[in-house]
Amino acid sequence: MRRTSIGSHTSITVHLDAGDLRQALCRDVLAGLGAVHKSLPPKWFYDERGSQLFDEITRLDEYYPTRRETEILQREAPTIARRTGATTLLELGSGTSTKTKLILDALMDAGTLAHIVPFDVCEAIVREALPVLAARYPGVQVDGVVGDFEQHLGLLEMGDHTLVAFLGGTIGNLSPVERSKFLRELADQMHSGDWLLLGTDLVKDPARLVAAYADAAGVTAAFNLNVLRVLNRELEGNLVLEHFGHVAQWRPEEQWIEMHLRSLRAQEARLDVLGLDLVFAAGEQLQTEISAKFTLASIENELSGAGLTLEEVFTDAAQDFAVSLAFKP
Ligand code: SAH
Ligand code: AVI
Repeated sequence: MRRTSIGSHTSITVHLDAGDLRQALCRDVLAGLGAVHKSLPPKWFYDERGSQLFDEITRLDEYYPTRRETEILQREAPTIARRTGATTLLELGSGTSTKTKLILDALMDAGTLAHIVPFDVCEAIVREALPVLAARYPGVQVDGVVGDFEQHLGLLEMGDHTLVAFLGGTIGNLSPVERSKFLRELADQMHSGDWLLLGTDLVKDPARLVAAYADAAGVTAAFNLNVLRVLNRELEGNLVLEHFGHVAQWRPEEQWIEMHLRSLRAQEARLDVLGLDLVFAAGEQLQTEISAKFTLASIENELSGAGLTLEEVFTDAAQDFAVSLAFKP
């Protein structure tokens, strides 16, 4: 672990440097691309380019979640600030922290905000967010963390009066087993009286769901294909992006969107760093992401299963998205 001070009130701690990331990628590639049904964990989308593409996705007409969550936070931020009285805001999968500023502004107005901890696997996005947050909240300590929220929660020092924000519906990118493990670990790490603010996308008309993950401009396709660029760069691969197509499917029995890359022809590729030869049949699919959608009942169930008490669920007018406020008893 490496903590570096950047300014008088700003630091960055790196739990995953370039070497650690490459090792983790090697493990995931050997397990995921060596399996009969090929898959990769979605965290590998997010190099600098992937984070920029995600940012573009959030502005697409078809991609409603960011707008709906913003609507909720605009309306409810003062209530959330008053109810939690948080001094620390820890944000998991923070990205650019754009929506989080609504909560941070409200905590500032309430006079309680002292400490912000943006936590993300993408070092470039954490480094970009730090000076922005430090400039907007003068006098507030801003400590960025580069880490994996499935691995490094135990290394976080949580003070009292912490509000953990996990926005955007990113929890839906974990499988049900990963999700319950993650929520348990998070709840174990929280102190009694700490709060969790959890953003989740809700089940809705499958046509709208699929459109949100298969936009007309092809930005989500570029985001999906970006994982192949990451493999080529990090593992000295020769995957040809043009030989793969973007697939987004609604899986009603699982209540999630699945993203895949479909091999458009029979093809072979090699990842030199691993000495790994990959063989794809024509039409074979490599799963790159699930994005689970929730109901108000399933959210409450999952939170209580982790030992957290649901205080209130806020939804947008169209009931597209939910932001839940829960506390550790
Ligand atoms: N919270 C922002 C960004 C969501 S995009 C929003 O609501 O718009 C998902 C973010 O989670 C990305 O910034 C990505 O880098 C980060 N992320 C994905 N998997 C992660 C993991 N395992 N550990 C830490 N961060 C992760
Ligand atoms: C970050 N996460 C919640 C996004 C989602 O909607 O599942 C990632 C994404 N994948 C495709 N588009 C956006």
